[in-house]
Amino acid sequence: MSKKVFIKTFGCQMNVYDSDKIIDALKIIGYEKSENLNSADCFVLNTCHIRDKAKEKVYHEIGRVREAFVNQSKPLVIVTGCVAQAENTEMLKREPYIDLVIGPQSYHKINETILQFENNKLKNEITDFDTIEKFNYLSKIQNKISKVSSFLTIQEGCDKFCHFCVVPYTRGPEYSRPFNQIINEAKTMVQNGTKEIILLGQNVNAYSFKETNKEFRLSDLIISLEKINGIERIRYTTSHPRDMTKDLLDCYKVSKKLMPFVHLPIQSGSNKILKLMNRKHRVEEYVSTVNYLKEINDKIEFSSDFIIGYPGEEKEDFENTLKLIDKIKFINSYSFVFSARPGTTASKLKPIEDNISKKRLKIVQEKLFGYQKLKNKSLENKFIDVLVENEIKGQNKLFGRNPYMNSVIFEGGINLIGKIVQVKVTKTNQNTLIGELSNKNKFKAA
Ligand code: SAM
Ligand code: SF4
Ligand code: F3S
Repeated sequence: MSKKVFIKTFGCQMNVYDSDKIIDALKIIGYEKSENLNSADCFVLNTCHIRDKAKEKVYHEIGRVREAFVNQSKPLVIVTGCVAQAENTEMLKREPYIDLVIGPQSYHKINETILQFENNKLKNEITDFDTIEKFNYLSKIQNKISKVSSFLTIQEGCDKFCHFCVVPYTRGPEYSRPFNQIINEAKTMVQNGTKEIILLGQNVNAYSFKETNKEFRLSDLIISLEKINGIERIRYTTSHPRDMTKDLLDCYKVSKKLMPFVHLPIQSGSNKILKLMNRKHRVEEYVSTVNYLKEINDKIEFSSDFIIGYPGEEKEDFENTLKLIDKIKFINSYSFVFSARPGTTASKLKPIEDNISKKRLKIVQEKLFGYQKLKNKSLENKFIDVLVENEIKGQNKLFGRNPYMNSVIFEGGINLIGKIVQVKVTKTNQNTLIGELSNKNKFKAA
């Protein structure tokens, strides 16, 4: 009988991709994924370290697992992800319930580490940066997981060292996977039913793989994926404004599968703050990238990330952020109050008052949500293309996404899963579009 593994994932899409890979690897040593924590033989907590209280959240989760297992034998407890990398041996010392700590660039060693633990019961911590070996190992594991929309990590790590960010420390230096390894993984995904591929990297547009005098960039990957039959949609995230090179921008002229929605974090609308953040780009360059893309295709829309209350942010800097939002009219964005992260340059700077940051965050979010709702409202009574991802259990309803990543809910049969259908939007709110299947579809609701 196979053993059961329950995995809980925090953080970015890369952690979601990694969790799937961890499950694929564990299958080799006889584990199967379970959705039920209480019957698990192994509990994996895949963690994120990006903002404050990350560490505390981990110990809190482990405490909950301990409580759940108070009357039964303890599962094997493994902490993976960015907190594992940052805290490493500290975690084993502080929380004896944890058995193994494995960092993001050591997942290829997860099986041997588990098997060793099963033999000798010695707690272990593996946090080497072995990115090449990791991808070589993990890319050889074939899986049959079928997902309509699949993440595919093409690049990991970061060399940019923005002064607020832990990623360069937790994921290590920038590494781009071999071009053919990525294309082969995409083909396997398509064979398993994938229609949309979301290319991932902490700096996805810094992708650069060199082989016999040729450099392959993100644009080359997009152009090659475009040619694979079965792939209907291509997206990428997260990109850095400095790496929005002309070859990538021009993909929006030629590609029919690249979605007209660009997530491009700017963090602040003030050049002074961008400099203090060590972002290495200016607001004007960002705006000119946006303008160029809009010229190519006026249907392209943007989303971004903002950090509010960064040390040194004055009223004028904040107002510049608001002006930028009014200029670009982002249709969906993430905004956070600055959180001082251990070991980063910004953690040593004088923080601004917490209540000022919170007030500013509220103002910024009202503005961002306003544009988001306005965009959604503008879709009412219009027909949109929706890639159907799954059914909503027990409701005879389907869930899908339009090209702008909005969640769309409408009635229809499961025969539509994996297809792009036309939906008429009948109602909208901030996050969701409600609609009905258009009768123009060649695919009918079952
Ligand atoms: N590589 C991406 C870029 O250059 O914009 C960002 C990746 S980071 C995982 C995702 C987002 O988390 C960032 O865009 C930023 O807005 C937010 N973030 C990172 N560090 C933060 C901090 N110390 N405090 C608040 N937000 C933070
Ligand atoms: Fe973090 Fe992105 Fe800056 Fe890298 S480029 S340090 S991942 S915010
Ligand atoms: Fe979090 Fe690590 Fe992703 S810190 S956002 S899980 S790269």
